[in-house]
Amino acid sequence: MADEKKVLFSGMQATGNLTLGNYLGALKNWVDLSDSYECFYSVVDLHSITVRQNPAEFRQKAKNLLALYIAAGLDPTKNCIYYQSHVSGHAELSWILSCFTYMGELNRMTQFKDKSAKHADNINAGLYTYPVLMAADILLYQTNVVPVGKDQLQHLELTRDIAQRFNAIYGDVFQIPEPFIGKAGAKIMSLQDPLKKMSKSDENPNASIYLTDDKDTIIRKFKRAVTDSEANICYREEQPGVSNLIEIYSACTGKSIDDAVAEFAGKGYGDLKLAVGETVADMLAPLQTRHAEILSDKAYLDGIVKENAEKAQYFANKTLRKVQKKVGFNEKIR
Ligand code: TYM
Repeated sequence: MADEKKVLFSGMQATGNLTLGNYLGALKNWVDLSDSYECFYSVVDLHSITVRQNPAEFRQKAKNLLALYIAAGLDPTKNCIYYQSHVSGHAELSWILSCFTYMGELNRMTQFKDKSAKHADNINAGLYTYPVLMAADILLYQTNVVPVGKDQLQHLELTRDIAQRFNAIYGDVFQIPEPFIGKAGAKIMSLQDPLKKMSKSDENPNASIYLTDDKDTIIRKFKRAVTDSEANICYREEQPGVSNLIEIYSACTGKSIDDAVAEFAGKGYGDLKLAVGETVADMLAPLQTRHAEILSDKAYLDGIVKENAEKAQYFANKTLRKVQKKVGFNEKIR
């Protein structure tokens, strides 16, 4: 990289409605880290077709997500923001890496097990090899750091294993990436079942705060959030619902968990729910306004998409050529 900054890669799927979990677990950290790294933020649309999509809706959702990256505060002239499907190297490297990944490793992936249970009528090979594509995403850019929520750690571990295995055979081809997990918000739980992760695929809309929800909806959902009968605001395993609200408050305000708990000492769950609801709504409102503005400027978005895809392709090709040579493919005559 030109200025010797370390490389950061991360991505998000454009399926379902993005939730507060996606924002606090990933996107918010991306913005905080973006000045310190050479960043690649991909809308990982190749991953999304492991589940059946309606093409017209999918196209729009991917565009919404790309605009959301910018609305959240990622400057597209400094950060490479692009659609994964525009850079052919992801799929090409994925094939090569799949020949260095064991089925036993893929069998252990909990996300595969969860998704197969949810989509029992469509357990396709892509769903199974999904983590290999994710490894390719990361390794393609010689990535040092990958900011993600806790649910992605198992995939990150596999990525490191694949890279180390490849390097042990062919020399130092890949940088070994490290995960980055934020101090708060790495696992935001469902508002209706605080033992389950908040997820964009949850069928109950009251379980998740969507990034597109308006203030009234957000406050109503927090008011309905499941807590407990202890009537005591604490952050501990025995009170997962209340702890989740504190975690959200801490991640949004930047206050430590202890300070957040102290702030609500002697107050009731109703006060906590309202305060968290207002904090979240006030945090999301400017993001929603910017998002609408960006989406309405087609020429601006098209320019970013084109330029950044070219930039990503350039860096991806550097790694891909090296890998192709190492495994023994004949060089293309250029
Ligand atoms: P995805 O699209 O499911 O989620 C995007 C990011 O949001 C985080 N996240 C959460 N964080 C905290 N609490 C939650 N409830 C919560 N729900 C989701 C995820 O951890 C993730 O960081 N496989 C990935 C996408 C991907 C990727 C990559 C990520 C593809 N290639 C390479 C990093 C690097 C996924 O499905 O994320």
